[in-house]
Amino acid sequence: MSQSSKYNAAITAIGMYVPETILDNKYFEKIVETSDEWIRTRTGISERRKLDNGATSDLAVKASQDLINTYKINPEEIDVIIVATVTPDMFFPATACIVQNKIGASNAWGFDLSAACSGFLFALHSGAALIESGSFKKVLVIGADKMSSIVDYTDRNTCILFGDAAAAVLLEPTEDKSLGLVDSILRVDGTGESSLYMRGGGSLYPATHETVDKRWHYIYQDGKAVFKVAVKGMADVSYEIMQKHNLKSEDIAYLVPHQANLRIIDATAERMGLSKDKVMINIDKYGNTTAATIPLCLVEYHRDGKIKKGDKLVLAAFGAGFTWGASLLVWSLDH
Ligand code: UT7
Repeated sequence: MSQSSKYNAAITAIGMYVPETILDNKYFEKIVETSDEWIRTRTGISERRKLDNGATSDLAVKASQDLINTYKINPEEIDVIIVATVTPDMFFPATACIVQNKIGASNAWGFDLSAACSGFLFALHSGAALIESGSFKKVLVIGADKMSSIVDYTDRNTCILFGDAAAAVLLEPTEDKSLGLVDSILRVDGTGESSLYMRGGGSLYPATHETVDKRWHYIYQDGKAVFKVAVKGMADVSYEIMQKHNLKSEDIAYLVPHQANLRIIDATAERMGLSKDKVMINIDKYGNTTAATIPLCLVEYHRDGKIKKGDKLVLAAFGAGFTWGASLLVWSLDH
């Protein structure tokens, strides 16, 4: 990423976890005024997962253990844990601390990163910078959200969209500057605050009977307003990173988009000149899992043998804040 650094940060291990309980579109037909047809055509979602017992740290721990077991990583060697989430177990301690304890990463420090649906991209870039600094050798970057804990299951505008999941990547230094995270273009725009938020529970509106009665501890989204800026924001920044690195569509193996809405994903791919087979998609199975969508795609596509070492990937996201961005990542895992 940084020209001056001796190292690039490369992904050397991956893991994921989705809970077993499936909520299909038919389930929502029973609880709100909606239809399978509306949900599929307007969002691309058929199913999403729900964690029945436990918290975001439990999702994150299972994804981390998948990574640790698959790649025989010694948790004591992990230096840093970054958990991207908007559904921390509690305000404090950070979910990263809870994960650290549960996976036995006895020598790690860490923190949570709040950037909603762009959380994984922001965390990946932050983790890579720590690797490039030369100070840390193993950074665990986790995208984890138990969205069901903040979804209002009486609001058809939002409840059909979200699901629970976690996925994790391990970053390590490589002197091969052709691999790993090459660059990111990351943005925030706080004027987006009024379009997508959870109003209650923070220092502005601490929990009271009134905040509960007003349903302020749930997600509020002005879907149409977010849709408009998301389509433009994600497509613009993905195109910008291509231009910046002189990449043509044929140079890119996959677009790895945040999975919020299939129509936003299609618009981004179209702007980049990419055909559908070069776009990672699993929104049909999991819905919008916020910080987990992008790493979940990476893990599934890798395990399906669809990506190989050296492949150029453009990761792109848009979310509450607003936050958005695109990263250029060269895949570094062998099969
Ligand atoms: O990941 C973080 C960033 N978030 C996003 O990127 C999400 C961006 N927004 C979206 O993906 C879309 O705006 C939604 C999927 C949330 C909504 O789709 P839309 O095509 O923008 O629908 P809309 O909000 O314009 O609503 C169209 C109609 C409305 O009815 P009227 O006013 O036309 O009578 C809604 O009340 O669809 C209605 N509607 C529904 N109907 C059936 C809204 N939700 C539902 C539903 N089932 N679940």
